[in-house]
Order: sequence, then structure tokens, then C-alpha cells
Amino acid sequence: MSRTLKIPAVSRRRFLAGVGAAAALSANPPRSSSANDRIGIGVIGCGGRGGSHIHYLKQLKEEGEAVEITAVCDVYRSRLQKAESETGAKGYMLHQELLQDPHVDAVLIASPDHWHGYQLLDAVQAGKDAYIEKPLTHWRQVELTRRMTDAVREAKRIVQVGVQCMSSNAWRQAARLIQEGAIGKPLQAQAGYFRNGDWGERMPIDDPDAAPGDDLLWEAFLGDCPKRAFSVSRFFQWRMYWDYAGGPSTDLFPHTFTPLVRMLGVTYPEAVAASGGRFLYNHEREVPDAFNMMMDYPEGVSIVLTCTLGNDYGVPMVIRGSEGTMTFNEDNIFITPQPNVDRPQKVDPIQRKESQLDFWRNFLACCRSREEPWAPMTLAQPVQTTLQMGVMALRERKVARFNRKQSKIVL
Ligand SMILES: NC(=O)c1ccc[n+]([C@@H]2O[C@H](COP(=O)([O-])OP(=O)(O)OC[C@H]3O[C@@H](n4cnc5c(N)ncnc54)[C@H](O)[C@@H]3O)[C@@H](O)[C@H]2O)c1
Repeated sequence: MSRTLKIPAVSRRRFLAGVGAAAALSANPPRSSSANDRIGIGVIGCGGRGGSHIHYLKQLKEEGEAVEITAVCDVYRSRLQKAESETGAKGYMLHQELLQDPHVDAVLIASPDHWHGYQLLDAVQAGKDAYIEKPLTHWRQVELTRRMTDAVREAKRIVQVGVQCMSSNAWRQAARLIQEGAIGKPLQAQAGYFRNGDWGERMPIDDPDAAPGDDLLWEAFLGDCPKRAFSVSRFFQWRMYWDYAGGPSTDLFPHTFTPLVRMLGVTYPEAVAASGGRFLYNHEREVPDAFNMMMDYPEGVSIVLTCTLGNDYGVPMVIRGSEGTMTFNEDNIFITPQPNVDRPQKVDPIQRKESQLDFWRNFLACCRSREEPWAPMTLAQPVQTTLQMGVMALRERKVARFNRKQSKIVL
């Protein structure tokens, strides 16, 4: 028997946070378009990724970009203090407080997955633009994923979703060539993510004796997750647990799947099947270390994604069409016609160049121009919904389907 996914209700506390933020919107109109306007950034989540972004932003400022980190936020005081001293910015332990800071024009969201969506909603309702790390949401937050896209559109906010490979113009060139028929009708695409070593277990435990209190806000970390007793592993190595993370699907596949969705111009698949499990790292870890997904789209094209964290021998990204093949390596995209097709056998390769700094520059430029950035919500929402279907398909050992009329995942 099939069943429709139940969406958890919005809590009263979150609703009130939204009301407060919405009121702030009227006091915080859209930015002016002057290229010289300094953009004040509030960094939410100052762990590994937040630290990298602080570094990129400081580099951009040194290169003359009109940007400044004006506020930082983390629920763990020692990381907050480190970010304060690195940036000279004002520190907050709760993102709701940071959002009230008038020096914050835009936020960077680099907290654990289960907080991204709520913090984005609060940010856009407070009138801030946002660079939000992938994944857009946690795997179980399907309804939230949809609500975020609506909220961003209604509030007319600029949102860049942190899939930095989208900084390469090659994907947009390849999409145009596919549309123009360079490989005929796209039929099948493949990509993977392979590496040696599990990420969750390797996340550093800053202090094995850390405990909840004024310096570590455990409740604020938990958010809408089940109220479990504190453990240093859950707090510092959250990627290992289903409550806070989705394993390779939502953690790693956004990087390879997003360009494929962009190039093929697809949105929601009809059906998603998944396989995988904990094949190598078996201790406290809950999420899989091997994960594979197959998706069929109504346009008549399939995508296969595959991953293990126990071996770094990769598979190349490939798009197979009825008249040709698009292959990808680190530097280039190649198009090879099928032997039976009458076309020139050599097509100039498209150069791939990805840059974290260019991705930030694009976001800042769009905050000023109000143009759509390279990785917008409209692309990230179907990507995330599909990856959520993959996690559900694996957990329930079922094929997940998407009901377009009702915009719902059916298992
Ligand atoms: N785009 C990329 O290549 C890339 C790379 C790494 C991580 N990421 C993403 O960045 C996010 C963070 O990953 P990480 O590796 O930095 O994790 P991390 O645990 O090192 O950092 C997360 C930080 O957020 C803080 N935090 C937890 N709850 C919070 C809350 N409610 N408000 C504010 N701060 C809170 C934690 O104390 C921690 O310091 C993840 O969602 C991950 O997917 C993206």
C-alpha cells in the first residue's frame, strides 16, 4: 500500500520567530543597487565550512570587494569567540539575534543541515539576502523545502545555494548545446562521488568534556530534531546521524547532481530507487557510507548517481543522447557524436573553471543588481526534493514517486 509523506507541523516557537522576522522586513527594504555599497555579511555557523567562508570573504575584501563580515553566530561559544577574533565582528549565540543586527545585509548559513531551512526562512522574512550552504534542508524537511522557495520569491530576496561548482560557466554552455540538439535527445546521465575516508567520524571533537550550558546551547542545536540526551559525538560529529544528516545523498550528491539537473533542464523525477548501506564504517554511524540512486524523469531520461566513501576510484560524469555523448573531466567537457550520426567528429571542448571566490562575487553582484544568481532556489528545490526521495527510498526499501499535481512524495 502506498502512503503519502506526513509533513511535521510548524511549532509555535518557529511561527512566532517568523512573525517577528516578518515585522522586521518592512524596516529592511531591498538593497540599493549601487556597486559601491558595502554589503554586511552575518555568518551563521562558524565550524569547518563557516571558517572557510570567513577566509574567502576576508580575501575578497582584501582584493577590494565592498564586503565586510559584520556579525557571526554559533551556538558553541568557543567557536563563536574564534570567529569574533578572526573577523572583529559582533558575536551572537542565536541566529534570531544576529538577524536583528542592522549592520547585517545578507547572511551566510553554514550550520548543520537541519537548521538551514529555518534560518533561511527567518533571514528572508527579516529582509536579508542569503548564501545558504547545501543541502537546502534536512532529508525529512520536504514541506519546508517548498515553503522556502515560496518565501524567497514573495520576499524578493537573492539566495545563492552553496553548490560552488555552479560557478563554472561550462554547465550553462553545455545546457545550451543540449537544448540546441548537440547530442540529440538526452537519454541517460551518470555521475558519482567517491572518496576514501568517512567524513562524519573524522569531524573534530573540539572538547571531549563539552557539556550543554551557557557556552553550548544544546536545545538550540537540536531545533526541530528529536529531543535526545547530549553527546559530544552527536554535537560535533552530527553528520553520522539520521536526525541531523542524510549521508552521501544530501551531503555529497548536490555537487554532482545539481549540474546534471541544470544541463538536462529537468525538475522532479517520476520515480527514484536507491540502494546502499553501512558497508565499511560500522561503529556509531547511522547514515550509509555507500549510496546509489536511479531516477526516471517524465521527459524520458534517466539519471544514475553512485557513491562509496571507502574507495576514491571515480566514474566520469556522462550524458548520453540519441546522437552523441557528453563526457566531463576535471578541466573540460567533450562532445562525441555517435558513429552512425553524420556530424563533425571533433567538437571543441568546453573549458571548466570553478572558483569559490567567483561564486561569492556572483552572489554579491546579484545582491546589488537583483538578478538571479548561478545556483538559485528554483534549481536547488527540485534537486533537494529528489535527494530527499532517494534517502526515503533507501530507508524504506521502496521506490519513491513524485505526485506533481499535489507536489508530494509518495512511498
Ligand atoms: N559546499 C561545500 O563544499 C561544503 C563543504 C563543507 C560543508 N558544507 C555544508 O556546511 C554545513 C556545515 O558543515 P561543517 O562541516 O562546517 O559543520 P561543523 O559542525 O564544522 O559546523 C557547523 C557549526 O554550526 C554550529 N551550529 C549548530 N547549530 C547551530 C545553530 N542553530 N545556529 C548557529 N550555529 C549552529 C555548530 O556549533 C558548528 O560550529 C553543512 O550543512 C555542510 O553540508 C558545504
